[in-house]
Amino acid sequence: MEYKIAVIDGDGIGPEVCAAALQVFDAVGKKYRHDFRFEHVLMGGAAIDKTGVPLPKTTVDICKKSNSVLLGAVGGPKWDGLPGHLRPEAGLLGIRKALNLYANIRPAVLLNALKKTCPLRADIRDNGINIIVVRELTGGIYFGKRKTVDKSGGADGDKTYAYDTEKYSVDEIKRIAVKAYEIASKRQKKIISVDKANVLDSSRLWRKTVHELNAEYPDIEVVDMLVDNAAMQLVKNPSQFDVVLTSNMFGDILSDEAAMITGSIGILASASLGGGNLGLYEPIHGSAPDIAGQDKANPVATILSAAMMLGMSFGLDRESAAVEAAVNSVLEKNIRTADIKEAGSTVVGCKEMGTLIAEEILKAH
Ligand code: IPM
Ligand code: MG
Repeated sequence: MEYKIAVIDGDGIGPEVCAAALQVFDAVGKKYRHDFRFEHVLMGGAAIDKTGVPLPKTTVDICKKSNSVLLGAVGGPKWDGLPGHLRPEAGLLGIRKALNLYANIRPAVLLNALKKTCPLRADIRDNGINIIVVRELTGGIYFGKRKTVDKSGGADGDKTYAYDTEKYSVDEIKRIAVKAYEIASKRQKKIISVDKANVLDSSRLWRKTVHELNAEYPDIEVVDMLVDNAAMQLVKNPSQFDVVLTSNMFGDILSDEAAMITGSIGILASASLGGGNLGLYEPIHGSAPDIAGQDKANPVATILSAAMMLGMSFGLDRESAAVEAAVNSVLEKNIRTADIKEAGSTVVGCKEMGTLIAEEILKAH
């Protein structure tokens, strides 16, 4: 079968990690007889440089016509001075909104092979870390009304102010909660819903809506946790978390924390989904401009994002599992990129890592 994949290489290490993931798609295609077709499109800083805007319309059109989208990373110091709506990040927010990808799924798993890279104490880490953050992605403060009112230069001093608004509707909360309930049904049947209901109205509505929906999923236990406590519990006792359901902003923050306690932001993948099969798959890490173009990046997060695409968008569960198995087997051999190297590791570059994982897929029975 033919699958059309739009590839947003993006900025910094984005093109390198995408190239490694495409090698893996090619191996999967060869081994399991699928035809993966790639179309490279511009977004972020690369798009700003070529077209003047971070998200050209043709990019949105091509993504919409594809079966799925793979993204490297966007942003970098080169575009830091631009106004908010013209920054590379505006491209990312724009594509999420344009494709209505309201559910961001971010697994944070401590792989056996990488136990030593975990920064937590051994007695904590040995209870295991296997968390899925389900983050609302197209609402909340990221997309609420915002404004800067410039009142500088007044006679009585600088009275400039700015605001951003956190707003959630019942429907927005419901649809993301449904995703969390569905994911929880296939896992430990426990959701920790994170909010700030002791302060925010939007969080109180969040809590009420999530609990009302519990009636439709009676076998799922829902525990509420305030976001500050959640940030603390993630380092104190991460094994209590299975599915974490939360808003756009809290999810942004907690997913970085969840990623880092596994010691290896360079290996963590993510999926952004909407109502249909089309999804956008990207590594959790950023564009790492400091190591861009040096073949030092870790392509595993992007490769595992490709594995998520195979399973979640294409229903190719066997192929998805094969990619994960290949990654594990390369890491078990202590072959590592520099960011996750340990004593005795064979350190390889981004390209070579991609090649080795692709070869492993072709070799597997
Ligand atoms: C992420 C990133 C983005 C976000 C930025 C780059 C806009 O941090 O995907 O987590 O905040 O959503
Ligand atoms: Mg983030």
